[in-house]
Parts: sequence; C-alpha cells; structure tokens
Amino acid sequence: MFVGDFCFFEMDIPCRQDVSIGLRSLFGGSFPVIRVPPPFWIHLAGFDVKSKNSHHHSSVRAVLVSLVGGDCKSPKSKKYPSIPVVMNERRSDDSLSFLPPLRSSLKHLRENKTLRMDALDFRSDTLTKPNDDMRRAMASAVVGDDVFGEDPTVQQVEAHVASLSGKEMGLFVPSGTMGNLLAVLAHCDHRMSEVIAGDKAHQILYEVGNLSGVGGIHTRQIPTQEDGTLPLALIEAAIRRPDSHVPHTRAVLLENTHNLCGGRVLPVAYCEQVRQLCHSRGLALHCDGARLWNAAVAQGASLKDVAKPFDTISLCLSKGLGAPLGSIVVGPAKFIRTCRHLRKMLGGGMRQVGIVAAAGLYAVNTMYPRLKEDHVMASTMGTILSRGGVAVLKVESNIVIWRVPGSQADAVATACKAQGILIISMGPGLCRAIPHFGNSLADAERAATVIVGVMGKLLKGSNL
Ligand SMILES: Cc1ncc(COP(=O)(O)O)c(C=O)c1O
Repeated sequence: MFVGDFCFFEMDIPCRQDVSIGLRSLFGGSFPVIRVPPPFWIHLAGFDVKSKNSHHHSSVRAVLVSLVGGDCKSPKSKKYPSIPVVMNERRSDDSLSFLPPLRSSLKHLRENKTLRMDALDFRSDTLTKPNDDMRRAMASAVVGDDVFGEDPTVQQVEAHVASLSGKEMGLFVPSGTMGNLLAVLAHCDHRMSEVIAGDKAHQILYEVGNLSGVGGIHTRQIPTQEDGTLPLALIEAAIRRPDSHVPHTRAVLLENTHNLCGGRVLPVAYCEQVRQLCHSRGLALHCDGARLWNAAVAQGASLKDVAKPFDTISLCLSKGLGAPLGSIVVGPAKFIRTCRHLRKMLGGGMRQVGIVAAAGLYAVNTMYPRLKEDHVMASTMGTILSRGGVAVLKVESNIVIWRVPGSQADAVATACKAQGILIISMGPGLCRAIPHFGNSLADAERAATVIVGVMGKLLKGSNL
C-alpha cells in the first residue's frame, strides 16, 4: 500500500542552447540523458509523488518531455495542486488512469524503458539550420529581382563577403558546386582548356564530374598530400607547354580547408608559393573555399589574409554557418561579371533571393565568429579517438576523419547509429564526423566515446 501526495505539473522551458536532461522514472531505473537541440520550447509534464510512508522513497518523479516548435508561444507554467493518492502497488499505473493524456506515455516508458531519443548528428556541418534570429532576418529582408540587379540584400552580402576577403566583387550563387563550376568555366574561356587539381579535391570527386560534363574542361589530377597540399614540383611538372598535342593549362585549383584530408588548413605561406608559381606561368589560382572561414579561424587570421593568395574563391554560407543555402564567388570585377553571365546560362539567376541572402549576412556576421567552438569540439573528439587507439587524421578545424580497416566504414556508421550517433562513411577506408552548431561539447565527447567503443570492437575482430 502506498500513500502519498501526487502532484502533476507542467512547465515550458525556453531552449536556445543545447540542454541535456536526465530523467528518472517512477518505474525505477534511470533513463538515458537526452539531448534537445535549440531552438525549442521544452515541454515538461510529469508528476511528483511524495510518499507519506517512511519505508517508501520520499519522492519519486516521472517526467515526460515533448518538444514544441521554436516560434510558438509558451503556455504559462502550471503546477497543479497536490492530489492525495493511494496505490495498491507503487509500480502500477492503473491508479493513474485519471491522467489519460499521460497514461499511454507512461505505458511506453515502462515497456520501453526509454523516451524518444534524438540521435546526435555529426554527419556534416551542412546540417546547421537557421535559428530564430536568422529566420527573422530572412522574414524582414528587403528584396527585389536580382536578375534585374535590383535586390539590395543580395548586393549587400556580395559586397560584404568581397570586402571581408579583400576582393573586388562578389556573386551570390545557390551552392558551392555552382560557385566552383562558374569560377572554372570563367577561367577556361576557350575549348581545349585544362586545370590542375588534387585527386582528393571535392571538385574532382564530388561535383559530378561537372568540369568535363558541363564545361568540356580537362582536369589534370596530381596526388593530394595528407595535409591537403599539392606539391609545388608536381604542379609545375603538370603545367603544359605549348604543343598541338596537349590542352592549355588555365588554372590551378586548391581546396581550403581540405574536406577529404580531414579539414586540413593550407598554410598561407604555401598558398602564396602556389600563387607565385601560377602567376609566373600565366595561370589563375582558384580556391574551393567552402570552409575558408574555418581556415581563417584555425589560423587566428583574418579572412582577407587567408584569401590573399587566391585570384578567385567560392565560399559557402551553408556549412557550419546555418544559412539554408548559398555561396559567394569573389574575385576581380571582370571575372565576376563573366560568372554572372554563366550563372544565368546554368539557370542560377534568382529573383527575390534577398530572402536567403539575408540568412547569409546573418551567417557571416553572427555564426562565422562562433566557428571556433566547432573546432574545440572537433579537437576534443580527435583527442578522445586517438587516446582510444583510433587512427584519426590530424584535426585542424571542424572535421574529424579516422581510418577504418578493410571495407568496414559502412558497418562502423551503422554500429554508431545503433547507439544514437550519426556519422558518415567516406568510402571503404574512412569515416567522418563533423561537430557543428547543433551539437554541444558534451555531445561531441559522447559521440567520440561511442566511436572508440565501436572501433575497439572492430579492431578486436568482433562483429559490429
Ligand atoms: C570542400 C567542399 N567544396 C564544395 C562543396 C559543395 O557545396 P554544395 O553542397 O553547396 O554544392 C562541398 C560540400 O560539402 C565541400 O565540402
């Protein structure tokens, strides 16, 4: 027989930062700590049972959590008056039938010993979502038809990113892929053109072969080093001499930070050497700067400093910065005018696109400065992984890549998923995790611990 006071409560907690909630249940045992990403109201509903019997626990609490969308108004917190209860058996919810809304959830709690637990998602920094302030900036953006050159917000973000990177002009484009393609098309303005690129470059591996497929441009690939650089001697050797058998080399492509090399940061001094080589041979130097922001943060340098060696750059607004889409190509005015023309040819001319350019402005002004937090999470993960015996590539920015023996990368991703951690397989021998705005340092630590566990099992030869 249990006699006590039953108190039902409900409250709403505004959640603009990650929070973790540990739950205890009336039915005993503890439930996993669940993570709730911002921006949400957390709706807590539950009950306290305060026992009047000395041989019972003095207080038992069950809590149900639901998430309520970010822009809804919070209902007032409520605390219902205590209800005296008598239960034949403390662990039965039969006597709670007067609480119909809670009943099925309580049953679920008891049967599954778990609440809905959101997986911690480390697959990519492209998962970052616009927060409330970014959405407000989008809603209030002044817009116009950008194909007519009449969208002031687009013009603002183009000019802003151009100025931050010390270039003459900028162009807003829908994606990093289009930004890179336009830049190379503009540099290769006649047939029989060739560009030199690393064999692990995003432009080579993951942009659907668009340089040849769309541009008819030949790519001369040289081995990318572990640190994301291309050896100067190999670049030099790959530059074509005039000969009717060969195409014309027009540009060299670098990637900074380098995605597949684990977010490695190309040193400014190295990029400067490549620039000198390119200019001495009449070539342009283009940078896939999808994460040039991270390269600047990692070196404690300004964007202008890391951008300086490059003639042209494509910078993404949607990687780690929360904008829903968009990249900015920057470079000399004549080059940007050519890119604008090519963008229209590819169907990338957009109309009232200031509505997303406003998100880009917010991303650059507010989210770029916080990227260092992502780097701290990544380096923490890297440390945990290497201490746990995992062969992790050097972590210099926000990307964590580790080696997986054999062709088990997919199996590792699946095993991590089963433990609530989402990462991706990067082909047979590599897995990747990228911490971002939607994760906390505690999440990163937990993810790394799970990865170490999964990899430990794999290395011991156990089935995952
Ligand atoms: C290094 C790099 N460059 C370019 C891109 C392409 O960007 P988008 O997905 O916006 O086309 C990506 C995408 O992840 C990337 O990682």
